Amino acid sequence: MPHRPPRPLRFNAFVMNTASHIQHGQWRHPDARQIDFNDVGLWIDVVRTLERGLFDAAFFADVTGLYGPALGSFDVNAREGLQIPSNDPSVLLSALAVNTEHLGLAFTSSVLQEHPFNFARKISTLDHLSKGRIAWNIVTSTQENAARNFGLDALPEHGARYAWAAEYADVVYKLWEGSWDDGALVRDRATGVYADASKIHRIDHRGPRYSVDGPHLSSPSPQRTPVLFQAGASEAGRAFAAANAEAVFIAAPNPAVAAEGIAATRAAAVALGRRAEDILFFQALSFVVGSTEAEARRNEAELDSYASPDGFLAHMNYGLKPDGSAYPPDTPLSQVETNSSKGILEWLRRSFPDREPVVADLADLLGRRARVVGTPEQIADRLQEWQDAGVDGINVVNWRLPQSYDEFADHVMPVLRARGLAQYQYAPGTLRRKLFGTDLLNDRHPAARYRGAFKDQP
Ligand SMILES: Cc1cc2nc3c(=O)[nH]c(=O)nc-3n(C[C@H](O)[C@H](O)[C@H](O)COP(=O)(O)O)c2cc1C
Repeated sequence: MPHRPPRPLRFNAFVMNTASHIQHGQWRHPDARQIDFNDVGLWIDVVRTLERGLFDAAFFADVTGLYGPALGSFDVNAREGLQIPSNDPSVLLSALAVNTEHLGLAFTSSVLQEHPFNFARKISTLDHLSKGRIAWNIVTSTQENAARNFGLDALPEHGARYAWAAEYADVVYKLWEGSWDDGALVRDRATGVYADASKIHRIDHRGPRYSVDGPHLSSPSPQRTPVLFQAGASEAGRAFAAANAEAVFIAAPNPAVAAEGIAATRAAAVALGRRAEDILFFQALSFVVGSTEAEARRNEAELDSYASPDGFLAHMNYGLKPDGSAYPPDTPLSQVETNSSKGILEWLRRSFPDREPVVADLADLLGRRARVVGTPEQIADRLQEWQDAGVDGINVVNWRLPQSYDEFADHVMPVLRARGLAQYQYAPGTLRRKLFGTDLLNDRHPAARYRGAFKDQP
């Protein structure tokens, strides 16, 4: 891997409006405040910590249903607090927007959970409220129950979900980029003109799933289109990311596997007329810090003593066949079939250099993956390796809120800064300006073709 001089990595806090997001079992620790996730005070403490640490964004995961087979038991989900109960992240973000100044506010919303007309308006509202700090993680949902909560009989097949996402993205791009021309908002008290109808257009979208006249009801927000995140890593997911994403969220088992995926996605983006640097890649990692390596190992053992294998297995239920029956424990992961995340399964499959993991390895693999243990200096060494593989940023997975981010902000960030691996101050302006230097999507993005496209429309 070529060694380039360090440049600041980007850092997001990977969180969810629930008690047990990824590190299952940790909410039981006396210091773990995620047990109180209904309390907005917890989240305000978290985002203040993040701004103190100069994190780029808080990144909220979300789901709209239960993990597991349709109509299956959800005993484990409820007992573990495994993303049930959970609350809507977008509502929480409006509270966090007024308690922060610089932090990006990213949230996940699935194409199946909300009509794109309403979703576009919600995003514009949040982008106005936050003065341009909103990002959207585009997901297609991986749960049968989520599909059945929105009137479908079953989760659509993997490829069909991406086709749905493509039309959904098209509708919201038209509303954000094409419905209002620059200068349409007049707000002139003297003439009594609030907005100029000749510069506001219907989009008249007619597609296989959606029919939307418009115009968009919100005036253009500081970024118009929010910063676009995406996490698909299958072939179809990668093609969608290459076309649409400005930031891709990965969970590769090591830097070499990350480098392959990054190169493939960047090449696909370039083939579509975008540039390699139009997409930033964020790797998910969790950190266990100590002032010595021995202390870090002791902290790791303490964290592991709270880990819940049941929670990990219920979250990524690759151990179950699509009909809900169990795979034999010695089934190689390459023989596991899934209609949920194919990308995550492939990353798990490639976790060991010398052998193929089997179903019996899943609990341990899921509990231990993407973990970095050591002193701040050792953590900086590891992060340098991820950067050398082409990673632009890290989604920092927490163990305990807000403790994990306090530790990272106070002990790790200063060492990263001294090495040139973390920023010293926030750049001014919108989230997109901080990340890419411009408020609006660049002209190479497919949404840009809708600028001025509806001028002939009333
Ligand atoms: C690191 C990571 C985080 C994800 N977070 C969410 C999430 O919060 N909500 C969700 O519905 N899907 C989430 N997903 C699922 C992806 O958005 C995507 O739908 C899924 O990986 C299937 O796509 P693929 O098979 O192309 O990888 C996540 C995936 C990855 C890899």
